Amino acid sequence: MKKELKENPSGKKASGKTSSAENPFRDTPFSDNPSGDHRLKDNIFLIGFMGTGKSTIADCLHTLYGMDVVEMDREIEEQEGMGIPDIFEKYGEEYFRNAETALLYGMQGRRNTVISCGGGVPLREQNVSGMKKSGHVVLLTAGPETILQRVRDSHDRPLLENNKTAAFIADMMDKRREKYEAAADIVVETDGRDAPRICREILCRLRLQELQRNTLYN
Ligand code: S3P
Repeated sequence: MKKELKENPSGKKASGKTSSAENPFRDTPFSDNPSGDHRLKDNIFLIGFMGTGKSTIADCLHTLYGMDVVEMDREIEEQEGMGIPDIFEKYGEEYFRNAETALLYGMQGRRNTVISCGGGVPLREQNVSGMKKSGHVVLLTAGPETILQRVRDSHDRPLLENNKTAAFIADMMDKRREKYEAAADIVVETDGRDAPRICREILCRLRLQELQRNTLYN
């Protein structure tokens, strides 16, 4: 049975438990790739509105392809010793945005890593250029109703806490759309689709882009 994409309810970072070699879901997105080596040269930055499934897809990329995972929100919470709502309340949004930028720049030496970005990361131009320097930027999308269903029961997103309506979400998405789309190398729809299929699409399209870039520039 298909497992449709769900927001990772624990919000926890993947623990690195399953090696891709022993993984029964292991798949080959490229028929001409019999070695099963899906590695990309660069990292993958997952961007998108809250509730578009970045954590779920990051976990799935870890499970299917053995990529390391960094959950930006969790890293910042660990650094600060408190949850995102408390950071917003105590220090304000700007402080949180600066922590995001600093974390992003600290990740430039990484390889084979999927970085699940907080929804506000692409709103700063310097974040976008930092991501582009060290990886592929993948925009995940979903409709406002789907997002509402996914975030309805969680209380760790201060910007939505008292605004959980499809109309508010749609309006906020509209305001951010231009920046999200400008940052993205590829856009992947998540509504009604299962996570492994989304992961295969991401890997296929990014490998194709790498091949095209190598052909063009070498
Ligand atoms: C935010 C998204 C959240 C978190 C913070 C702000 C945003 O992350 O970083 O609440 O501005 O879109 P998720 O996108 O992982 O929910």
